[in-house]
Amino acid sequence: MSPPLVLVVNGPNLDKLGTRQPEIYGSTTLAQLEDRLRVKADELGLAVDFFQSNDEDELVKAVSDAPAKGAAAILINPAALSHFSYRLREALAGTGLPVVEVHISNIHAREPFRRLSLVSGVAKGVIAGLGVNGYTLALEAIAGMVGVPQKGARTT
Ligand code: DQA
Repeated sequence: MSPPLVLVVNGPNLDKLGTRQPEIYGSTTLAQLEDRLRVKADELGLAVDFFQSNDEDELVKAVSDAPAKGAAAILINPAALSHFSYRLREALAGTGLPVVEVHISNIHAREPFRRLSLVSGVAKGVIAGLGVNGYTLALEAIAGMVGVPQKGARTT
């Protein structure tokens, strides 16, 4: 049986990770993050597909197409779209898939406009403020959600 597929989606400006405000978002580039997630997914018995765009239309389409592409879950950092995109929220809800939302920075400890994420209401869980480690933690949580048995996990 092939491993459950997780679609990892990064929203606007996350293509600039590593050089974009490194004091807030750190020095890891998106390519390095994706490499790290490939390794982690392999350890967890998951497969991963990556999508990043600066365009809301493309992000909505990638999310909506996820079930047809065989995804079992979505890990998303919606970036600025978190704070205003009803379209992205509804696309995520429409997939019927478990969604985990990740923010590199602690959106609750920054400007007031960042405190509300429209996506959180349709997410199973949210990780914010743990840097890029939040993505690997989210993958671990997703492994449990999609029922991949983990070494050392209780069976009773
Ligand atoms: C972010 C937080 C958002 O407010 C911001 O617009 C981003 C990145 C984060 O990962 O901390 O682009 O989602």
